[in-house]
Amino acid sequence: MKKSTFKSILFFCLLTISLQINAQTGGGMWLPNQLNEKEMKEMGMKISAKQLFNTSNPSIKDAIAHFGRGCTSEVISPKGLLLTNHHCGYYYIQSHSTVNNDLLTNGFWASNFEEEKPNEGLKATFIVDIKEVTSQILKGLDDNFSEEQRNQLIQDNIDKTLSALTKEIYQEIDILPFYNGNQYYAFVTETYEDIRLVGTPPSSIGKYGSDTDNWMWPRHTGDFSIFRIYADKNNHPAKYSKDNVPYKPKYYLPISIKEKKENDFSFVYGFPGKTQEYLPSSAIEQIIEVINPSRISLRNETLKILDQNMRENKEIKIKYASKYASIANGWKKWIGENQGLINTHAIQKKKDYETKLLKQTNASDDEKNKNLAILTSMDEIYKTSNSFIKASTYFNEVFYYNSETFRIASLLSNLLNSDNRNFEKNKDKIIKNLNKIYKNYDSELDKKVSAKMLSMYSMNIEPRFQIAGHEDYEKISSCEVLLNNLWNNSYITGSKGDLRSILSTNTQQIIKNKLKEDALISFISPYIEMYKNKISPYLNEYEKKLDSLQRNYMKAQLKAFPNKKFFPDANSTLRVTYGKIDGYSPKDGIYYKPFTTLSGVIEKYVPNDYEFDLPNKLMTLYNEKNYGPYSQKEDMIVNYIATNHTTGGNSGSPALDSQGNLVGLNFDRVWEGTMSDINYNSSICRNIMVDIRYILFIIDKFAGANRLINEMKIIK
Ligand code: ARG
Ligand code: ASP
Repeated sequence: MKKSTFKSILFFCLLTISLQINAQTGGGMWLPNQLNEKEMKEMGMKISAKQLFNTSNPSIKDAIAHFGRGCTSEVISPKGLLLTNHHCGYYYIQSHSTVNNDLLTNGFWASNFEEEKPNEGLKATFIVDIKEVTSQILKGLDDNFSEEQRNQLIQDNIDKTLSALTKEIYQEIDILPFYNGNQYYAFVTETYEDIRLVGTPPSSIGKYGSDTDNWMWPRHTGDFSIFRIYADKNNHPAKYSKDNVPYKPKYYLPISIKEKKENDFSFVYGFPGKTQEYLPSSAIEQIIEVINPSRISLRNETLKILDQNMRENKEIKIKYASKYASIANGWKKWIGENQGLINTHAIQKKKDYETKLLKQTNASDDEKNKNLAILTSMDEIYKTSNSFIKASTYFNEVFYYNSETFRIASLLSNLLNSDNRNFEKNKDKIIKNLNKIYKNYDSELDKKVSAKMLSMYSMNIEPRFQIAGHEDYEKISSCEVLLNNLWNNSYITGSKGDLRSILSTNTQQIIKNKLKEDALISFISPYIEMYKNKISPYLNEYEKKLDSLQRNYMKAQLKAFPNKKFFPDANSTLRVTYGKIDGYSPKDGIYYKPFTTLSGVIEKYVPNDYEFDLPNKLMTLYNEKNYGPYSQKEDMIVNYIATNHTTGGNSGSPALDSQGNLVGLNFDRVWEGTMSDINYNSSICRNIMVDIRYILFIIDKFAGANRLINEMKIIK
């Protein structure tokens, strides 16, 4: 080899290594109208950024829809077929299920349009356009403004800007802050409201491994379900009607079933919910030491109680499936997040970063002092707020998330205090809420959870955040006696009469009189009063100060490191993240490969197990190696991982290849990397996707739903 050739190869290798490091060390979820096309192409993308986002011609963004409250979905056929995760469709699949017709257990495949099932309240939102409006929104702002003045001016500017922007009647416009309020963008959206369930595998595939495998790699879950968007005759959004027709998308994703390899370029397009990448070390300390341990310890107990009861009773298992999954999901994530933050020395890293920021050479002394003051104030506030944060974290977990009876009692206690003007509105909201809660509520089971929660609150929270008599409730046996009494004297549990009929058939005065006699509401009310007087005012104060400090801290970071590319924290807006298919090493001596296969699914099989049972049909397909065109060499790839920086909300997001073809479905992250919301680390943060070929294999070979396969555009 000639010396010069060797040199240039070496140079090229170093260049690619440094580019990859550059692109991946920081993570990033970018607005699709601000992509770094050059970097994406250097990493392997073969299409242009315009093909991802274009407002004058159809582009990939036109296939991506925000799904329900917090997931992503994508259009995969010219007839509006919508792909998302099984866990994103879960609530709706459950709502069509009964003990005798259990779609969760059996799966479901509509055999024609008529059988596709409407879902009340389910919506899918597309992004039509994104415009930066920072100068309009921050116009007239003065550094000396108080937070109130600032907020007022911004609200006025938002209103003005909104009224100047044009849109179709079936569109909406939202203006949202980025970089903690240092930039603003307007989003023009179209929301479809008739979304029907088309198909889902049984939970033994769609939720295989359930909570044991959740947040874990290696993973073997077929986490997908299929819906369809319906529109009116003009292809515009419309409420459900039997006259609606399948939606004709501006763009739908072609699907590639070509071979995948380690290092392949991979990008994910979706709606990440929330990240906090630019917090100071003091905030991370609070998360690690106060917030996460509080939530984890409470949910530990709830989950133990629910698990035992679900195993004993089939009806309870269905009723509590969705609730359990959601409580467990947060619980397990926070455990992983804490470990990850500790293992990657996140606090020390942030401290080093702060030191660097304070020492930056290009700043004036005045600015340096200002930055120091920002960090010092934040540190103080985070420290002094700890006890309030702990009390409020407990309060919310105990009286809102874990005990549904307490949640209803709190809502009703607020209703009792509603004035004439708001009473009816609040009442209607509560009735809607009650319909949802009661559908899957078991008052005896909830009593067990509530007793445990109350005793933990009483034991672990300072006396100043308690109510009179709280010492008694530290003992679980006293809580049980107390709650037995309350449960027997309340409309909420039904023992005193039917709550919903009381709310819907009486005058305000009669309702209020009856609610005043309710033992549960009377019990909860002092807690609510305490929260209103002793916790919430302080938290609001802290929050207001922190908002302004964090905004200034963000501004200081942007200024101090002009060459660093800062992506805006996730805020449920449309983003693109890119990287490559890659394994990782969670610990010394262990390396995880980036692909799992159907053989691995079979290895985990435990007959009749609650999490690892499998349908016979899948075993047969495996034994016969009946994979159709969907295998890779001899294997059926099931899940794979990449360095894409994703978060909650990215579930259901399409994973695309260098050509922009759909090749996977994002659904999770690896446990060691769940701290990526706060401190992304490229060596161990990986997103988990279902290989699209496994999805097609299940639809085609397992379910025989060829009518769906025939709608898609599949590239071989
Ligand atoms: N961990 C994933 C996400 O945060 C999937 C959760 C659904 N699965 C479950 N077993 N709870 O949403
Ligand atoms: N499973 C998450 C979701 O539902 C995705 C994640 O947190 O990585 O959005």
